[in-house]
Amino acid sequence: MVDAGGTTGTANPRTLSPAAMTELIVQLQAIVGPRGLLTEAADTAPYVEDWRGLYHGRTPAVVRPIDTHQLANVVRLCAAAGVAMVPQGGNTSMVGGAVPSENGGQIVISLARMNRILALDAVDMTLTIEAGATLKSAQDAAAEAGCLLPLSIGSEGTAQIGGILATNAGGNNTVRYGNARDMVLGLEVVMADGQVWNGLRRLRKDNTGYCLRQLFVGAEGTLGIITAAVLKLAPRPAETEVALCSLPSVEAALDLFTRFQRFDAAAVQAFEYMSGTGMALVLKHIPGVSLPLRQPAAHYALVELASTRVGGGLREGLETVLSEALDADLVIDAAVAESEAQRAAIWKLREEHSESQKREGASVKNDVSVPVSRVPELIRRASKACENLMPGIRVVAFGHMGDGNIHFNLEQPVTMEAAAFLARDHEIMDTVCAVVRDLDGSFSAEHGVGRLKPYMMPDWRGGAELDTMRRIKAALDPMGLMNPGKVLP
Ligand code: FAD
Ligand code: MLT
Ligand code: ZN
Repeated sequence: MVDAGGTTGTANPRTLSPAAMTELIVQLQAIVGPRGLLTEAADTAPYVEDWRGLYHGRTPAVVRPIDTHQLANVVRLCAAAGVAMVPQGGNTSMVGGAVPSENGGQIVISLARMNRILALDAVDMTLTIEAGATLKSAQDAAAEAGCLLPLSIGSEGTAQIGGILATNAGGNNTVRYGNARDMVLGLEVVMADGQVWNGLRRLRKDNTGYCLRQLFVGAEGTLGIITAAVLKLAPRPAETEVALCSLPSVEAALDLFTRFQRFDAAAVQAFEYMSGTGMALVLKHIPGVSLPLRQPAAHYALVELASTRVGGGLREGLETVLSEALDADLVIDAAVAESEAQRAAIWKLREEHSESQKREGASVKNDVSVPVSRVPELIRRASKACENLMPGIRVVAFGHMGDGNIHFNLEQPVTMEAAAFLARDHEIMDTVCAVVRDLDGSFSAEHGVGRLKPYMMPDWRGGAELDTMRRIKAALDPMGLMNPGKVLP
C-alpha cells in the first residue's frame, strides 16, 4: 500500500484482548514446552529492560525456542494472531533495540537456547553456528581450531551471534577485518510469516541474484529472525603486540595511527583512542586496574599489532614506530605489554569505559563516525559545542579511532541530577550530530538506530533512501510485526 507521502507503508500489529492473549500463550507453550516460556514478572524482568536502564517495557511472555522448527511455529502463530514480536539476543543493545514497548502487547523471542556450534571447517575457514551462541563462545570455538573470529567487543561474553549480525556490530578489529557484515557467508532466517529461509551456504563466491543475507544484517530484527549463520574465519595470529601510549593531543593520536599504518597496515589489528576523562573514570570505578604509565595524561592510544608469521619483526617495528614518535613529541610515554596478562590488563582499561561511565551516573551516548582524518576536528568542535550548550558537561570521548568511530559520550555536570541531564538527551545528541554532519559523518556507526534514534532517520536518510527502506519493510513484513518502533520512524 502507498501512503500520501509516496512511501510504502505497513499495517499495525493488533492489540489482543486479555482472553485472546491468554489463549495465544497456551498455544505458544504447546510449541516450546514449559521450559521455553516465561510469563512471571520476576522471570521476564531481565528481558524488558535494556543494559543502560533507559527503557522499561512490558511483555505477556518471553518465548525461548530450542530450534528453528519451534521458532518458525512460534512466528507463524504470532503472525496469524497479528501480534508483534521482539527478537532478543544478549540484550546488550546501546539503543534499546531489544526491549518490548510499554504497551504490554509484544512477545519477546529470546534466542538464548539456540546456542549450538553446528560445524567448523578449518580448511574452508568457516564456522556454522546458531544465533543464540555468545560471541565469546564463537571466538573460543574458532581459537580451538587454530583460527580467529576477528570480531571483538566489550560485551562479547553476553552478546549473541544473532544480535551481532542484526546490529552489524563493529568493535575493535574493524580497522583490519571490517564489520560483522563482512564476516557473513550464509544465513538462516525465519521470515515474518514463519517461512524458513535456509541460506547457510559457505561459498566465497555466489552471484545468484539479490544478496538476501545482507538485508537481514543490520536490520535490527525488523525484517526477520536470524537463527543461524556461516561466518568467515581468519588465520590465527602467531604474534601479538599491545602498547598503551599517553599523548599530548588527538592530532598526535592520528599521526601515530598513520605511522603504524605506514609501518604495516595489515598488522594493525586495533587502534583505540581514549580521553583522560574516560581513563580517570575507569581508574576510579573499576577495581584492580592501574595505569602502566608514569603519570596520567589528557589523551591515550591503545595499539594492537598482529602477524601470522613468527619472527616477522613485529616487536622491532612497534618499538621503532614508538621511539620515532617519542622523539617527535607525539608520544609522552608508552608501555609495551610483556605477557598475555599485561595485554589483557591494558585492554581492560579500554573495555571498562562503558561500565565505568554507567557507575559514574547518567550518560548520553553518541556512537558517531567521521572520515578518520577528521577525528581530531570532531572531538575539538563537538567538545566546544557541548560545553557551550551545558557548562560543566563532561566529555568522555573514546573508541575505534582506526575506523573513524568515536563514542562521543557525555556525562552530566557533577552538580546535575541524572534525570535532569537525560531529559535533555535529544538536545545534546543534536548538538554533537550537527558537527558530525558538517564533517560528512554518520549519527550511528555501530550500535544501530534501535528505539533511541529513529527520530533522526528522516533528516539523515530521508527521500529515496528511507522510502526504499520502507518498501523493503513492507515487502518482507507487511503486517509490521517484526520489532515495531525500531529503526524506522
Ligand atoms: P540485543 O541487544 O539482544 O539485540 C540488538 C538488536 O538486534 C535488537 O534490535 C534485536 O531485536 C535484534 N536481534 C537480536 N537477536 C536477533 C536475531 N537472532 N535475529 C534478528 N534480530 C535480532 N557494539 C558494537 O558494535 N561495538 C562495540 O564495541 C560494542 N561495545 C559494547 C560494550 C558494552 C559494554 C555493551 C553493553 C555494548 C556494546 N556494544 C557494542 C553494543 C552491543 O553489544 C551490540 O550492539 C551487540 O551486537 C548486540 O548483541 P546482542 O546479542 O546483545 O543483541
Ligand atoms: C565500546 O566500544 O566500548 C562501546 O561500543 C561504547 C559505548 O559505551 O558507547
Ligand atoms: Zn564501540
